[in-house]
Amino acid sequence: MHTPLSDTDFSFTPLPDLADDQRWSTWSSVEKGQHGPEPRPGWVVTDEGAVDTELGILKTGKEADVHLVERAVPGRPDRASVLAAKRYRNPDHRMFHRDAGYREGRRTRRSRDARAMSKGSAFGRSLVAVQWAHTEFTAMSDLWQSGVPVPYPVQVDDTEILMEYVEVAGGAAPRLAQARPDPDLLQSYFDQVRDAMAVMARKGLAHGDLSPYNILAAEERLVIIDLPQVLDIVSNPHGADYLLRDCRNVCAWFRSRGLPVEPDDLFAELVAQAW
Ligand SMILES: Nc1ncnc2c1ncn2[C@@H]1O[C@H](COP(=O)(O)OP(=O)(O)O)[C@@H](O)[C@H]1O
Ligand SMILES: [Mg+2]
Repeated sequence: MHTPLSDTDFSFTPLPDLADDQRWSTWSSVEKGQHGPEPRPGWVVTDEGAVDTELGILKTGKEADVHLVERAVPGRPDRASVLAAKRYRNPDHRMFHRDAGYREGRRTRRSRDARAMSKGSAFGRSLVAVQWAHTEFTAMSDLWQSGVPVPYPVQVDDTEILMEYVEVAGGAAPRLAQARPDPDLLQSYFDQVRDAMAVMARKGLAHGDLSPYNILAAEERLVIIDLPQVLDIVSNPHGADYLLRDCRNVCAWFRSRGLPVEPDDLFAELVAQAW
């Protein structure tokens, strides 16, 4: 015979109270297609009970801010990871100077959205921010799967991308612009950039805003970031111009550090692979 349960018979782990700088992990609230590609690295925290905690701001930019977020299961130090959260700006504080040229040849499925975006209304601009986040996330996922050294893209939600935090001992990896590598490392860095550009070119793609500011130097290894404007070299009417500019920006930095690389040679090598 069953005795009725009293209130005190229920044992459960109380949910932790969340602080102002915390939220429940958004991992399971986003749709499947908004998660990063598989096989997923082991450090990605997918647990239902995980909590996201804001650790602070890493960089503010014109179009997006990058924050540090810890995603962790309370009480489980083995289920914790620090992520970079790139958040595209609120439409009122942001100018998408990169918009028009890069988007040529890209199609928007819903004509109402396309009209709102072309009119530049507040609604249209907020859609543009969401679209940039999704476009960057899709490009990162594609490139990561092709072996291009980009941060692993964990998930995208509205205007926020959560991705692998690229770090070195002591904090965030510096940008290549700040690096002073010795000649061997300088050559290795150039080979890494050229290889990454070549993989992209074989896919018909160019970064579109490649420079020593959008490449992180994680000790011996370079990681390419800031990918919302990745473009199709052939179908974009300015594709070749963007690729040439990427080659010039990259080679100018290597030359300034003492490696005599020619932008025209790099461009020719990449073009030969793209067609
Ligand atoms: N995954 C990451 N890991 C470490 N630092 C990052 C990461 N992503 C971005 N950053 C830092 O934030 C800065 C801005 O990010 P970026 O994607 O280049 O956006 P923006 O459009 O503002 O240039 C970078 O220059 C870099 O210093
Ligand atoms: Mg950048």
